[in-house]
Amino acid sequence: MSKKIGGLLLVLVMLVAMFAACSSPAASQSPSESASAAPSESASAEAPSSDVGAGKLVGVTMPTKSLQRWNEDGANVKAALEAQGYQVDLQYADNKQDVQNGQIENQITKGCDVLVIASIDGGALGGVLSQAKAAGIPVIAYDRLITNTDAVDYYATFDNYGVGAMQGQFIIDTLGLAKGEKGPFTMECFGGDPGDNNAKLFNQGAMDLLQPYIDSGVLVVKSGQTKFPEQIAITNWESKGAQDRMDNLLTGYYADENIDVVLSPNDSLAQGIVASLKAAGYGSKDKPFPIITGQDCDKINVGQIIRGEQSMSIFKDTRVLAQQVIDMTSAILAGKEVPTNAEYDNGVKKVKSFNCEIQFANKDNWKALLVDSGYYKLSDIPDAE
Ligand code: BGC
Repeated sequence: MSKKIGGLLLVLVMLVAMFAACSSPAASQSPSESASAAPSESASAEAPSSDVGAGKLVGVTMPTKSLQRWNEDGANVKAALEAQGYQVDLQYADNKQDVQNGQIENQITKGCDVLVIASIDGGALGGVLSQAKAAGIPVIAYDRLITNTDAVDYYATFDNYGVGAMQGQFIIDTLGLAKGEKGPFTMECFGGDPGDNNAKLFNQGAMDLLQPYIDSGVLVVKSGQTKFPEQIAITNWESKGAQDRMDNLLTGYYADENIDVVLSPNDSLAQGIVASLKAAGYGSKDKPFPIITGQDCDKINVGQIIRGEQSMSIFKDTRVLAQQVIDMTSAILAGKEVPTNAEYDNGVKKVKSFNCEIQFANKDNWKALLVDSGYYKLSDIPDAE
């Protein structure tokens, strides 16, 4: 009998130890290890509403309402904070950094206890954040790194370099390049907004893998435009900007030859690129859609994937990121150790950070990933039913 109880106890101790190991933050930025974001997700699902935030006001600023993801991020962060008893001041800035700086100033004046900021131009917040620092208000950079200031305390994001690497690897695998396919395949590259530090990381992650194939002539960028940000950046991540640039590329370089690959760092750009390709007659037997990458799993883009217009996207579960920010906020205010698993150099300091996990999405797994997980309803997605 006592042996049995001893055995049971041993199993229990091992289970507790395993769970603790899964929950402890890893000291790496690699996508595989960043899977330690998962415990937060389950914590958010199971944690009952509480009042740990009672009497505390959190200022949340998001860049724009014009892209689907920031509406979701804003709503998720607000709801998760409110479930913990915090009061929330949520603002959107119409993609203008001076507008966002004004909103942050107001939040400082209102006496916010913590500021959560998804910036527009990450290098242009130094002035307003030195006011926050002087007022002793902790700052969490949300998804986008805030650079060139020491007045940022923590950063919660996804594995941004890993996003670009996943896109680059997808292109390599789909074309069979690592197996020796020589093509040549035509390709054009797009980049995100130059003021967004993530855009640089996405580009680096993809180009570190693709550049050798460009150098050896297997991938041919007919326009010769590969430099980020000088030649390929799209201001404010606007679909229209991507559409216009794609129109110009098609007219200028692809009048007599189809394009095989478009490296798009995210879904808003992929929307513009697909619109341009459709207008130029792509999507037929003679002109199949090129391989097109993306990121965010925006509803419109999942529709594009279903219809065969876009090849892949990357799912960044904003519920997990929101929960991470709530965990950080609560730890900061309770004076406890803040959960981190990475560090980003912002030009002035190394910012302690948490990289959440990214997930690959394509025509084969979008439903399991996005609908079965409860992230979207099937009826939210164009052409899904
Ligand atoms: C985010 C991406 C998003 C892009 C445009 C980036 O900072 O990380 O997920 O697609 O901004 O909104």
